[in-house]
Amino acid sequence: MLTRVAVAGVHGHGATHVRNVLRLADRARLVAIADPRPPTDLPTGVEVFGTLDQLLEATDVDVVIISTPIQTHVPLAELALRSGADVLLEKPPTASLAEFEQLSAVLAETGRVCQVGFQAQAAQATLHLAKIMAEGQLGEIRGISAIGKWVRTARYFDRAPWAGRRTLNGVPVVDGAVTNPLAHSTAAALLLDGSTGVHDIRSVETDLFRANGIESDDTSTVRITTTRGTPIVVAVTLCAIEHLDPTVIVHGSQGRAVLHYSTDTLVLPDGVHTFERADLLTNLLDHRADPAVPLYCPFAATGGFTRVVEAIRLAPEPAVIPDSFLRWEGEGPDRHPIVENVEHWIDRASDELALFSELRAPWI
Ligand SMILES: NC(=O)c1ccc[n+]([C@@H]2O[C@H](COP(=O)([O-])OP(=O)(O)OC[C@H]3O[C@@H](n4cnc5c(N)ncnc54)[C@H](O)[C@@H]3O)[C@@H](O)[C@H]2O)c1
Repeated sequence: MLTRVAVAGVHGHGATHVRNVLRLADRARLVAIADPRPPTDLPTGVEVFGTLDQLLEATDVDVVIISTPIQTHVPLAELALRSGADVLLEKPPTASLAEFEQLSAVLAETGRVCQVGFQAQAAQATLHLAKIMAEGQLGEIRGISAIGKWVRTARYFDRAPWAGRRTLNGVPVVDGAVTNPLAHSTAAALLLDGSTGVHDIRSVETDLFRANGIESDDTSTVRITTTRGTPIVVAVTLCAIEHLDPTVIVHGSQGRAVLHYSTDTLVLPDGVHTFERADLLTNLLDHRADPAVPLYCPFAATGGFTRVVEAIRLAPEPAVIPDSFLRWEGEGPDRHPIVENVEHWIDRASDELALFSELRAPWI
């Protein structure tokens, strides 16, 4: 029998989920969508609702995919789980540790499951690297760095009221470079260290800056020390000179590994390896059919990541990078700042496992 799937939030990234459900037509049927902005191009037979509440009231659903603004994740996931559905919840799953605990309690109470949309954790490249690290093939692990050099224009921050916000109407959002656009980097680094759980984090040092006229950080270093003692430095910007693939670098005493999670490529001391990526929805369907099949990213395995979100939520506001260190390019929706030489400072942060402030980056 086909699994009955609904999608909440179908514009933006949700469109990818809609396409994916339709692609899996031999296993799943898209029965309904919920979005306050109704879409125009759905296949016939798919019911359309303004809210998930109305959808669940009117339709039987086995799986709900939630691809909505961050601050709506927990209330919508709770609705779906309490209706008896399993959930595929987009990252970042929650905007605070309190919300993480709230949803953990709902999962325990309902006995339902929640897979989180950290697709880098379903990349065979990531899992292979974790395996060779555990086998000691890279020697002692000195540290891990997660690097992102991205370009985001005014269009990105103007697309929705929650974009680039720390809070919205008093509710935590925490939509910054580390916690949202480049969240996969931190999640993948934690997975490689075997430190995905909520109790696997010893400390989180934050060093947050912004060049855009937003509330959140767009150029940051964060150092996570895991309970096993590994330093993980996240060094990211949305104000790079050009948009590059994000990478996670493992610094081992017997060599370095570079994970390009968006292309499922691994650069190891013996050469370049390319891998297949598993699909998070397919994995959830497999798990529902046979609970012995583990989820790639069960909700509990985002606890370590949520400790990072919590530290950033509670950190002081990002410091503003002075205009003298910025160059603005593009017009109107294409306008974006470039932080002078930010690539150099990110590479140093990665190599030295240090924060921008420790390196005395010039804009500080
Ligand atoms: N896994 C990934 O690589 C990836 C990539 C991009 C975005 N995301 C995540 O997907 C989520 C959505 O991001 P986005 O950039 O598409 O956001 P967006 O604001 O561009 O789109 C959100 C969609 O949700 C709808 N929506 C808003 N409130 C709703 C509600 N209460 N119920 C139902 N629908 C509602 C909006 O109308 C819109 O269609 C975020 O959590 C984001 O981090 C994940």
